[in-house]
Amino acid sequence: MKKGFFITATDTGVGKTAVTAGLLAVLLQNGVQAVALKPVQSGAVRKNGRLLPPDAAFYCRAAGWPAEAAANLCCYCLEPPCSPHLAAALSGINLDRETLLAWCAEKVRASEFVLVEGAGGLAVPITDNYLMVDLARDLGYPLLVVCRPGLGTINHTLLTVAYARQHGLSLAGLVVNGLPGEAGPVEQDNLKILPRLTGLPLLGTLPRLAGLDVEKGHCAGLVHAVRQHLNWRALIG
Ligand SMILES: Nc1ncnc2c1ncn2[C@@H]1O[C@H](COP(=O)(O)OP(=O)(O)OP(=O)(O)O)[C@@H](O)[C@H]1O
Ligand SMILES: [Mg+2]
Repeated sequence: MKKGFFITATDTGVGKTAVTAGLLAVLLQNGVQAVALKPVQSGAVRKNGRLLPPDAAFYCRAAGWPAEAAANLCCYCLEPPCSPHLAAALSGINLDRETLLAWCAEKVRASEFVLVEGAGGLAVPITDNYLMVDLARDLGYPLLVVCRPGLGTINHTLLTVAYARQHGLSLAGLVVNGLPGEAGPVEQDNLKILPRLTGLPLLGTLPRLAGLDVEKGHCAGLVHAVRQHLNWRALIG
């Protein structure tokens, strides 16, 4: 199996795309032939009659790849901004496990290192009987769990980790994303207690970056922050 990680999070909007894109760029800069994939994208953006996958578009921005490459990094690109199972139903599309897995296998073939971003968290349905956790297990890559830094993250992180373990997934570690400049006692304690309670390494803590905007394609500061604050060397082994 190729080297790689499945990037999940404790919720939607926690920073999977930011972490994936930043890691991709750092790996490429260090000579690792890496690719990032977003197998299922909901909330795609329609431009000139075409649906564009915003997360994959952001990987391209960070990696310096042409914007047109984004379409090749996403298997199912769905417009409604909701859970994939509903986005597919609203679009009249059947999401199919075999198609997803065959697509991933094909994309992985050409690269030595793969980052696969989930959608939302692990308990998000792709279909009524195939959840994001099942896709992660089928792909077989260890998980990177992206967590919020503040209040509520202990509960969300422990539930995500317990759910992953219950489904037999292997976990590489945690990445806390969006640490405010003035981290208070809650954030400071979370950075210590999350690895302790999960038994997982904290692989990095990305600061909140004023210039970062995934939706607008602004990745100023992200690559530098990942290089500086994330233990990416441990990830490439
Ligand atoms: N470190 C950061 N500093 C500032 N803003 C951030 C940071 N990380 C992410 N964001 C912003 O937070 C929002 C959510 O981030 P992101 O898109 O990476 O989340 P996600 O987990 O990939 O969401 P989804 O489940 O929709 O794929 C985006 O608007 C992004 O620009
Ligand atoms: Mg995302």
